Amino acid sequence: MRVVKETEDYIVLDDFLEDRDFRLILEYMQLNDYARNPKWIKPWDLADRPPWQSGETVHHARKRLSPEDPRRQYPTGTAIDRLFERILGAKFYRDNFKDSCPAMTARSYLHEQGASLDWHNDAGRFAGAYAFYCHPRWHACWGGELLLIEDDIPDELLPEKEIMEEGEIRRRRNWNVIHKDDLSDLLFSRATHTEFVFPVPNRMVMMRRGLWHKVNLVKNQAPMARCSVAGFFLPDD
Ligand SMILES: [Fe+2]
Repeated sequence: MRVVKETEDYIVLDDFLEDRDFRLILEYMQLNDYARNPKWIKPWDLADRPPWQSGETVHHARKRLSPEDPRRQYPTGTAIDRLFERILGAKFYRDNFKDSCPAMTARSYLHEQGASLDWHNDAGRFAGAYAFYCHPRWHACWGGELLLIEDDIPDELLPEKEIMEEGEIRRRRNWNVIHKDDLSDLLFSRATHTEFVFPVPNRMVMMRRGLWHKVNLVKNQAPMARCSVAGFFLPDD
């Protein structure tokens, strides 16, 4: 495992898994069942093609999932356990999430040609997120880069809107997910330090909540899907 870049908000680690474990994950990726979420998940732009995704696996430090829960729980006896173990042992995880986040999730994603994910900051109930790239090879011209904005741009800078719910008019700060003009204004006016990360095989990116990011379009000339396991660190679940 090798640190490529580390800031207060994110870390990029290469050769994250041992060779054998990485090969086990490559096989694991093709054994999963995949479906496209029929629901519009808002970070995906309406014009984006959503990726194929597997069911969710959860690590929980304190409790067992109920038998009715459709999610799988670590340890699963499959290669995804090796990834969980590596994350749990990583310094960035221990420094940022271990004490505050009893739960961690993992889901496999296949971003085929034409897939992408628009700007978002993983706010809400997450303390942080990670993405691990597990295709057998990738190419600098195939797209699928992770784009990051390093500037601190808090949600509170979004314009306040009036929303009517439960018979009351309430004020809330969010961006309009259909035209995104307010999000665009915010990022245009505040983003000065930006970074991109190639989805190099066996590379891990972990980030703290609030960091704005997006996944670039996978180009049509990519001969295979961009494969990743991604998940969240959760303060409660
Ligand atoms: Fe994200």
